[in-house]
Amino acid sequence: MDWEPRYRRFQECQRYVAWSDYDAQRVRSLATIVDPSLQALVDDFYAEIERHVHTSRIISGGQQQMSRLKEALLCWLRDLFTGSYDRDYLRRRYEVGRQHVQMGLDQTYTILAMARLRSGLLADVSVRVAKTIGRRLLQFERRLRGLLFLSNRERLASVLLDLARQSGVATNDGISLQIRLSHHDLANIIGCSRETVSVEMAKLRSDGLIDSGRQRIVLTQPRRLEKLVSRNGI
Ligand code: HEM
Repeated sequence: MDWEPRYRRFQECQRYVAWSDYDAQRVRSLATIVDPSLQALVDDFYAEIERHVHTSRIISGGQQQMSRLKEALLCWLRDLFTGSYDRDYLRRRYEVGRQHVQMGLDQTYTILAMARLRSGLLADVSVRVAKTIGRRLLQFERRLRGLLFLSNRERLASVLLDLARQSGVATNDGISLQIRLSHHDLANIIGCSRETVSVEMAKLRSDGLIDSGRQRIVLTQPRRLEKLVSRNGI
């Protein structure tokens, strides 16, 4: 099959809705945000199909076919969020569409199913994006207040606690940070010199609050670190 005319038509459709590389990038950036809700969308999609005679009678293969279909739709949705819409993508989409035409599915239901999927995605994306922005704003505000009101030692403690929340793993010795950061990196984050970070890290170590060495940091007393920061209401 000659795919070029189809691909040109696909590009023309993209131009019709002013689709750009920037849009593709934005869709890609949503992939991890929406992924946790995709399974629920898939379940809802097929639950609705089962509620209508014209659609439910097409799925005659029982539970086994249903599980296969759900798996296929989940892949289809993940493919949508890769942000890559090249010829191969078009070919994959085209094949799925062709199967539906061949099985004699009334196109009305494909359009309805797509509309249901789209509104489910939009509702979910807006809630999740709002939550993500809210979380980032809070984090930003806390950092800003930290920069204004905390000492270097307290700012350092606050950043170490943030990192522990994001990438800490509980061990027998305390919370081990999975992200490797040099004193130089930490200095850039809290806005002071590398020397200051080295001095403050040594103090936190000698007070027994952390254990560290060669970009490895363990928060041995996270509670005491929290107290150090919360004294200032940050
Ligand atoms: C947005 C609309 C839809 C999307 C994105 C979609 C997606 C898919 C995908 C990805 C496959 C698997 C294709 C393959 O593995 O080659 C598939 C197959 C299928 N779909 Fe859909 N679908 C849609 C609408 C519907 C509707 C409304 C029905 C109504 C019953 C339906 C029934 C089926 C059936 C019977 C198969 C074949 C299953 C099999 O091979 O056992 N689809 N669909």
